[in-house]
Amino acid sequence: MIGIDIVVISRIEKLMEKFGDKALDRFLDKDEKKLIKSPSTAAGFWAAKEAASKAIGTGIGANCGFHDITISKDNNNAPKIKYKKSIRKKYKIKNSSLSITHDGGFAIAVVALEKK
Ligand SMILES: CC(C)(COP(=O)(O)OP(=O)(O)OC[C@H]1O[C@@H](n2cnc3c(N)ncnc32)[C@H](O)[C@@H]1OP(=O)(O)O)[C@@H](O)C(=O)NCCC(=O)NCCS
Repeated sequence: MIGIDIVVISRIEKLMEKFGDKALDRFLDKDEKKLIKSPSTAAGFWAAKEAASKAIGTGIGANCGFHDITISKDNNNAPKIKYKKSIRKKYKIKNSSLSITHDGGFAIAVVALEKK
């Protein structure tokens, strides 16, 4: 299963300018926020969570919210994604992978899932 999403970075940048930290609280937890050094990264994380929700076939909504998905980074700065346990169980997720890119004012993320 795969999911993909694209985000205009300026949209996230404007939200951050207008609402500050609260803009990030809407879709990121405390540890994820520590990883945000620029609007590009924030837009990439937004795209990553949208892509993750598409990979399980629900989109962001009642079945899978922004806070049901967690993004972290490894020592090489590569992003990793994790669904909360109940989602992993419900959608039989064995492994999940995330890739993020940004250029030309856009952030794009792809999530690939291996199911049990
Ligand atoms: C890491 C690399 C693939 C990023 O590519 P890029 O074209 O510069 O930038 P992109 O916009 O496509 O990708 C950036 C995203 O890649 C992801 N990324 C960073 N390092 C990564 C890695 N080692 N593996 C996988 N993904 C990585 C991150 O999500 C990053 O965005 P974020 O930090 O905002 O979350 C590229 O810089 C590279 O090949 N680096 C290796 C060589 C190098 O210069 N290393 C320097 C550190 S030693």
